[in-house]
Amino acid sequence: MWSSLITPTFLFLSFFSVELAPNPESATDENDSYPPFWDQINGDIAEFPVQNDKTIIDPSKYIDRLRMYKILIEKSNKYFAGLGNNKTDNVLWTLTIFYGKLYEGDRLSDPSNSSVCAYDAETPGCVSINSGWGGINFYVIVLYFLAAIESEFLKDLPYQVELVSQEEYRSDFCYSIAECRASYPQAMDTVNRFFKYLMSREVTYIIKDVPYYNIDEDTVILYMWEAHQVGIDIATSKFSDVSFYSSETERDFSLDFLVTVEFLEAALYRPYFEIGTELLEGFPHRLLTDQDRIVLTSNFNIREKAFMTSVKLISKTNKLTGGAFFTIWNKVMNLKPARSLARFLTNRLLLIPIS
Ligand SMILES: *[C@@H]1O[C@H](CO)[C@@H](O)[C@H](O)[C@H]1NC(C)=O
Ligand SMILES: *[C@@H]1O[C@H](CO)[C@@H](O)[C@H](O)[C@H]1NC(C)=O
Repeated sequence: MWSSLITPTFLFLSFFSVELAPNPESATDENDSYPPFWDQINGDIAEFPVQNDKTIIDPSKYIDRLRMYKILIEKSNKYFAGLGNNKTDNVLWTLTIFYGKLYEGDRLSDPSNSSVCAYDAETPGCVSINSGWGGINFYVIVLYFLAAIESEFLKDLPYQVELVSQEEYRSDFCYSIAECRASYPQAMDTVNRFFKYLMSREVTYIIKDVPYYNIDEDTVILYMWEAHQVGIDIATSKFSDVSFYSSETERDFSLDFLVTVEFLEAALYRPYFEIGTELLEGFPHRLLTDQDRIVLTSNFNIREKAFMTSVKLISKTNKLTGGAFFTIWNKVMNLKPARSLARFLTNRLLLIPIS
C-alpha cells in the first residue's frame, strides 16, 4: 500500500532538482576540510594526560573531543578498505568534519557571549557548557567513545578512562559508562551495536597486503547513523531551549537541521570524507542572528543559502504534514533503489540554490 506514496515523495524532491545547476565551486580544498588542529594530534589515547592511574579526558576542551574522534577513526579505519570514493574511507568522517565546522562557526561558544570559547586558529579552545550545539555534540561523541570502551572495541587501554565532569547542568550530562548506561541503556546498546558489528567482521581477502573485511556497506552505515541519532534524541530533549543558542533564528535552524539529518539518515546517506565535506560546505559559516531570519536576503554565499533554505523547507513540510512526510519517506527508504535516488536528489536539494 505504501508503495503508492513513493511517487509523491519523489515528485517533491524532483520538483526542486529539475534544474541541476552546475556546482559553483566544486573544487574544495581537501586540507581545509579537516577539523582545526587535526594534524596536531595523533589518534593515540596516550596523548591524554594521566592522573592517579587514570586517563583524563575533558569534554569541555575542543581538542579532547577531537582526540576522541581521531582515536575512533584510527581504530576503525582498517574495516573500511574498499568503501567510499577512494576505497579507504571511514563512515565516521562526516561526524568528525561536522564537529570541526561547529567549532569554526563559533557554535561551541557561549550563547550570551560568543567570544567565550570562540574559534581560535592558533590555540585549541573550549566548548561552553551553555552551548546547545556543544551539548548535542557531547551526546554524539561521548556515547560513541564510551560505547567503544564498553563494547571492548577499544581495549587494552593503558589506564581507565575518566571524563572530567562539570558542576553546571550536572544532571543533564552523563560522564561515565556506568552513568550513561544507567540513564540511557537503550542508547548505549544501539551505539554498542555499531562497534560490535565491526568487531564481528572477518578478513575475506587480502590484496597487496591490504586486508578486506566482509563489511556490508548499508548495514554499517545504518548502525553508524542509528548510533548518532540516539545521541541526538537524548540531546534535543535537553538543549532545545533558546537560551542555549545565540538567537532564536540559530536555535530554529539547529532544530530544522537535525530534522533534515533524519531524512538523510533514513536514506543511509554516505558519511564519507568527500561526500560529507561537500554536503557541509553549505552549513552556515557563522552563527545566525535574528536579522538572518529571512535567509535569502542575508549575506551568506549561494551554497549556504541553498542549504539553509532546503533545511527549513524540509522541516516545515514535515511539520505541516504532522510528521507524515518523514513517516512516508522512512518507509520508502526501505527500498534500496529508492535510497540511492534519494541520496542523489537530497544532495542536489541541499547544494543547489532554489531560486
Ligand atoms: C582517502 O581518504 C582518506 C580520508 O580523507 C585519506 O586519509 C586518504 O589519504 C585518502 N586516500 C587516498 C588514496 O586518496
Ligand atoms: C565576553 O567575554 C570576553 C572574554 O571573556 C570579555 O572580555 C567581554 O567583556 C565579554 N563581553 C560581555 C558583553 O560580557
